[in-house]
Amino acid sequence: ATIYIPRDSGALALGAEKVAKAIEKEIAARGLDVKIVRNGSRGLYWLEPMVEVETPQGRVAYGPVKPADVASLLDAGLPEGGEHRLSLGLAGEIPFLARQTRLTFARCGITDPVSLDDYRAHGGLQGLENALKLEAAQIVAQVTESGLRGRGGAGFPTGIKWKTVLDTENPRKYIVCNADEGDSGTFADRMIMEGDPFVLIEGMTIAGIATRATKGYIYIRSEYPHAVATMNEAIAVARKAGVIGASVLGSAHAFDLEVRVGAGAYVCGEETALLESLEGKRGIVRAKPPLPAHKGLFGKPTVINNVISLASVPIIMDRGATFYRDFGMGRSRGTIPIQIAGNVKHGGLFEAAFGLTLGELVDGIGGGTATGRPVKAVQVGGPLGAYFPRELFDTPFDYEAFAAKDGLIGHAGIVVFDDSVDMLKQARFAMEFCAIESCGKCTPCRIGSTRGVELADRIAAGVEPEKQIAVLTDLCNTMKFGSLCALGGFTPYPVMSALTHFPEDFRPVPVREAAE
Ligand code: NAI
Ligand code: SF4
Repeated sequence: ATIYIPRDSGALALGAEKVAKAIEKEIAARGLDVKIVRNGSRGLYWLEPMVEVETPQGRVAYGPVKPADVASLLDAGLPEGGEHRLSLGLAGEIPFLARQTRLTFARCGITDPVSLDDYRAHGGLQGLENALKLEAAQIVAQVTESGLRGRGGAGFPTGIKWKTVLDTENPRKYIVCNADEGDSGTFADRMIMEGDPFVLIEGMTIAGIATRATKGYIYIRSEYPHAVATMNEAIAVARKAGVIGASVLGSAHAFDLEVRVGAGAYVCGEETALLESLEGKRGIVRAKPPLPAHKGLFGKPTVINNVISLASVPIIMDRGATFYRDFGMGRSRGTIPIQIAGNVKHGGLFEAAFGLTLGELVDGIGGGTATGRPVKAVQVGGPLGAYFPRELFDTPFDYEAFAAKDGLIGHAGIVVFDDSVDMLKQARFAMEFCAIESCGKCTPCRIGSTRGVELADRIAAGVEPEKQIAVLTDLCNTMKFGSLCALGGFTPYPVMSALTHFPEDFRPVPVREAAE
């Protein structure tokens, strides 16, 4: 029998390592012939640590498992999928999983993340093999046709970015993967790097062949030690097997990869600050143009894409552009891994075609708040994303639909708040976050964010709130249109959405202070 116990850091944080040790010990004590595989997470975090066993009917799941449950699980016949009070039935039939369309995350939580044989057995490397039969421009055309847009948040067409790099002549070009996943409530990049690192390696290698770049860097935030370790392990395996290196799968193409670890600045997720950091300098935003596609890392043409954008390429090259493009709505094609977090009953990763409404995600799939209180606001797109009230729950997950409501999808993280949240405090938090994380290069962000905090404090103190609100609105306009990058430029989204949708929180009654 084979037992799967996740090694994903979300599961580890919930005790997966202790569960693994307990299972190993019990198996040894009982002299059972059982193989243990440390898989990634399926992304059902309220059920982690989720243990699975292979049975003739399919994989049977149990969770959330605690070390104290292990003996009774084995008594119940865990290796054969025996009934237990923690039984969840067939993993694939758990509604949260059954309702998903897993393309990018097809293997995540199923395979052994660092087994190349497992990767191949589950369809891995097909995309790369297909790409090797094509000309660079044909690969780029296929990615363009698929409709894939940058999953880091801006939604820029990936194929067009690649074409810019392909068309820029230079003997040295780079592929850079932005794995500085800093948005609140997001974990898709981490999950894929820990659960299916080969799909990222494959995607980056395809990008290299498509743009004639021979070297790639994965810039991972230092807060992700497990992702760093898994990526390094997988890169070594891929290199040894000849998937990457001097000859990609025996072809005339060379492509190699390296992991670089950041030092913990949110702004290093901004592409040009990330490039500075990769070059060994302080992470300060560069003015664009030149675009990284023209002059990026060390001044060379550089593809810089988010983890999920790159990890979505293998399935496109495997199944074809049309297959991928057929999912989604409007100009948002394919699937998006939505990360449901915050005060929510069923938090986790939900990959689906674009088009689900925010309400379906929060109430239907997320199951409402964990506290059981009414949902008051949902922040979509990280700390710089807008707060949406219930009235906007009919907004479909689509880049343009969110933009039309003064919001953004960003990296597709949604953070749920119940009715105890104070939106003025959240607005203050956005300004404070910007003040702390600002790289300091431009004035609207560097100084504006600190002034924003002061204004929020004055509103809370009830000092001429109407006047302060007018100044805050004006300040937000200056930051939105005058900042050099998205950090200063997007901070107005949470602030203005809080003010627009929850004006009552900005008109404090004097008792507010007294009550606190
Ligand atoms: P942007 O719109 O300036 O650029 C998007 C991408 O397209 C960049 O890579 C840019 O270099 C490229 N590009 C633009 N025109 C091009 C052309 N003609 N040819 C080739 N490439 C071209 O957006 P930016 O500032 O890179 O990103 C902002 C987004 O980042 C926001 O939407 C926000 O949601 C997101 N974000 C994501 C975070 C995360 O943790 N994933 C954190 C903070 C923000
Ligand atoms: Fe730096 Fe802020 Fe200006 Fe961005 S907006 S360049 S983070 S000071």
